Amino acid sequence: MPGIVVVGAQWGDEGKGKAVDQLGDRVDYTVRYSGGNNAGHTLVVGGEKYALHLLPSGILNNSVPVIGNGVVVDLGVLFEEIEGLNARGVDTSKLLVSANAHIIAPYHQVIDKVTERFLGKRRIGTTGRGIGPAYSDKVNRLGIRVQDLFDESILRQKVEAALEQKNQLLVKIYNRAAINPKDVADKLLSFADRLRPLVADTAQVLNDALDQGAVVLFEGAQAHHLDVDHGTYPYVTSSNPIAAGACIGSGVGPRRIDRAIGIAKAYTTRVGEGPFPTELLDADGERLRADGGEFGTTTGRPRRCGWFDALVVRRAAVVNDFTDIFLTKLDVLTGWEKIPVCVAYEVNGERTDRIPMSQSDFHHAKPVYEYLDGWSEDISGARAFGDLPKTTQAYVRRLEELVGTRISGIGVGPDRAESVVIHDLL
Ligand code: IMP
Repeated sequence: MPGIVVVGAQWGDEGKGKAVDQLGDRVDYTVRYSGGNNAGHTLVVGGEKYALHLLPSGILNNSVPVIGNGVVVDLGVLFEEIEGLNARGVDTSKLLVSANAHIIAPYHQVIDKVTERFLGKRRIGTTGRGIGPAYSDKVNRLGIRVQDLFDESILRQKVEAALEQKNQLLVKIYNRAAINPKDVADKLLSFADRLRPLVADTAQVLNDALDQGAVVLFEGAQAHHLDVDHGTYPYVTSSNPIAAGACIGSGVGPRRIDRAIGIAKAYTTRVGEGPFPTELLDADGERLRADGGEFGTTTGRPRRCGWFDALVVRRAAVVNDFTDIFLTKLDVLTGWEKIPVCVAYEVNGERTDRIPMSQSDFHHAKPVYEYLDGWSEDISGARAFGDLPKTTQAYVRRLEELVGTRISGIGVGPDRAESVVIHDLL
């Protein structure tokens, strides 16, 4: 089983890090293939809490962590995370960074923030980390890649070219000061010596490793419904977190991926703007937020909370062809007498069990709920499915039926060990 991809099935923050980390000891390479430091993985290992934004969560186990070509890299954040981990005794020396990964330059963050402000009510609610502008430059062929840092004259030319139009925009449209290309190039070059030993042709490294039977885990960031092609556009991130993105963002062919694991929270959360049919704007939402600690790892923003939406997860299961679902944070639902689960939408007076094709229908979709029995027992000690109370088992089985993919693992607490294993993920 050499190629495994892990993808969030909702709008992010499903707790992918926990599932990835649990697979970790049997994994040889852990690869990030999309996004940048907009991601937030909180991992609890042996009672110690680690918050990662850019590094693959495999950095905390024995696998080789890889930042693939599809990632956009903020070098300041990269070295900050490396130093932070080193200071806590974590070895990061095996980390590899693709020579083709694009760089988030300081001007990308400036543009991210001013465009959001300019959009006003139509803002996306981005993380403000410069992700969208860095991907725009990549597609516009104005991007700076990791390898450019090792040729000073090319780097300076590229930074100048990238800033030529942006400075016009910043000064004339956004009423901001122009950014000096020399300052930007100097800043980027200041990372070159530290970066050099990490840089590799990671596509070749990964294909060679797969040829030799290595287990490679492709670790998605963000989630299906934040995918620029398949998510709730325009309220999405600017990359392809879906399983197919693993091929593009790391340079392996589709036949290399043997297993696609969807990570779904036992309820739903979302950060930023965009449609969210099961969102709770009342005390129930507050209670989920408090019980689940639903505040962004990256931005600290309170997450929007709502009930499990089977249509959302089923759609992700179809497009990603999930082989398994890992259900996270089930313990957070402890203590509710009844737990609503969205089984259909009502759109313009008609019932549907599919995600509407049009954006405005999705915005107007009203959830149709089924009310499942809750449980009050502490489930954090459960390690096998049979350890769970009967009503908890029935909740899990009903979600499985609605989504149409087997649930192979369940998170019942924040620590690495607090999981129920139903089917082995490897
Ligand atoms: P961006 O990725 O910063 O451009 O933000 C675009 C949208 O994706 C916003 O709604 C963000 O809140 C959301 N987003 C980006 N990364 C994450 C994540 O790791 N978890 C949840 N939402 C995210």
